[in-house]
Amino acid sequence: MQGPREEAPFSHTGPLPVLFQYRGDERQAPEREDRMQEKYVVEKSTLEGTVRASGAKNSALKLMAAALMGGGPSTIHNVPDIADVRTMLELLDYMGFSTSFAGGTVTVGPAVNPKTEAPYYLVQRMRASVDVLGALSARFGRARVAMPGGCNIGARQIDLHLKGLAQMGADLQVSHGYVEVESNGLTGSHIYLEFASVGATENLLMAACMAKGPSVLENVAKEPEIADLAVFLNEMGARIEGIGSSTLSVDGMSELSGAEHSVMGDRIEAGTYLIAGAATGGAVKVEGVDPSTLEMLSMKMLEAGCEIESGEEGGGWMRASSNGRPAGIEISTLPYPGFATDLQPQMLALLSIGEGTSFITENIFDNRFMVVDELNRLGTDITTKGHHAIVRGVEALSSAPVTSTDLRAGAALCIAGMLADGATEVYEIQHVDRGYERFEEKLSSLGAKIRREPVGA
Ligand code: EPZ
Repeated sequence: MQGPREEAPFSHTGPLPVLFQYRGDERQAPEREDRMQEKYVVEKSTLEGTVRASGAKNSALKLMAAALMGGGPSTIHNVPDIADVRTMLELLDYMGFSTSFAGGTVTVGPAVNPKTEAPYYLVQRMRASVDVLGALSARFGRARVAMPGGCNIGARQIDLHLKGLAQMGADLQVSHGYVEVESNGLTGSHIYLEFASVGATENLLMAACMAKGPSVLENVAKEPEIADLAVFLNEMGARIEGIGSSTLSVDGMSELSGAEHSVMGDRIEAGTYLIAGAATGGAVKVEGVDPSTLEMLSMKMLEAGCEIESGEEGGGWMRASSNGRPAGIEISTLPYPGFATDLQPQMLALLSIGEGTSFITENIFDNRFMVVDELNRLGTDITTKGHHAIVRGVEALSSAPVTSTDLRAGAALCIAGMLADGATEVYEIQHVDRGYERFEEKLSSLGAKIRREPVGA
């Protein structure tokens, strides 16, 4: 079996190696099926030490999509080597763009006559494939993108994306599970987003950058990854003002160039390790992350009695340590700068061993408490009622086999496994591979007892 390219940097141009090729029936290549059958074995651990955050998954994927708008090649540094990045590379290859990925650097070269389509088997594997919709529509005037189905954390509509593109003059047809966009050039518009959707903001921002005339986008999402994308687009020659605010003003350009950019540090990955450090009674420092992107997490961990330190040196760092069992707190997930939904499952693991009772409200996704049933198998005492979870702190957890339902749930289950007596097996860890670079390696460097094993070993 061609193992993951741990040593040699992953780089390719042209057809992908068999590991990533899909056969007509959209069946997964055998190697990937083998990789699907892996598990983590996690034992009680106390985490101490320092790790470095990788580049942000939820920025890198959008920068790669934006690069297809450039008339020249783009170079993107600090890209994490994770499954979702390789899927986005596969999508860009499929469309005919020349790509390479080596040593954390992705290059995306222009395509002469691209196939402006994101096929179902890639969108099904990675919803962020939808982020090429705005870029393709604006640059090439056409796009055919599979509608994303739901996923384990809830319905994942794109109605706000489509309403915005229609307002910019695109002709949209939805049929056979695909959305087809035809436009002889988009027209700049004044668009109000009903909800501060991250994906809709990104798709419409990219579309506006090459629309005819000015656009104003109101009530947009303000996640730091969107600011990273906007800066990259301006480096490509776009004219975006209001970066970081909820209103973006954009002057459409007839063409954009390639650009060079370095991806911001992954605040969700960093938050995951900070929470794990505090939960296990240790102390973890994460370098390469801007503390200002995790203010709400800091506030909530301080409320729970954890110690948090941070600094700006060397691109920014944060340190979290425990002061015994956390206190019960209240958390409501909200668009940035509210508490990040992507850190909610990890906080459930931390608070599950608290001295008090915590109340968590999930306002972003309609099914992001899937992990609770798995956490309760480890001895937590969590009750969910609709969008609310009541976490009654317990003194100790006990090991069990559990199943990861999405990448953040997988990380949360590994954290809980490090609190439990005995060996916890976490299945379906391909979810974790989607968004955490060298997950078990980084955790092991902090003293975690975690190993990856084939299922059935
Ligand atoms: C992005 O997803 C992130 N993914 C998610 O991270 C993150 O949880 C989410 O933003 C919120 O912060 C990437 O960036 C690749 P949304 P996205 O559009 O763009 C509804 C992770 O773990 N909605 O803000 O899909 C939608 O159904 C992932 O790294 C509509 O109803 O988030 C969802 O309930 C998970 N109509 C909610 O809004 C629309 O047109 C949030 O969606 C768009 C969204």
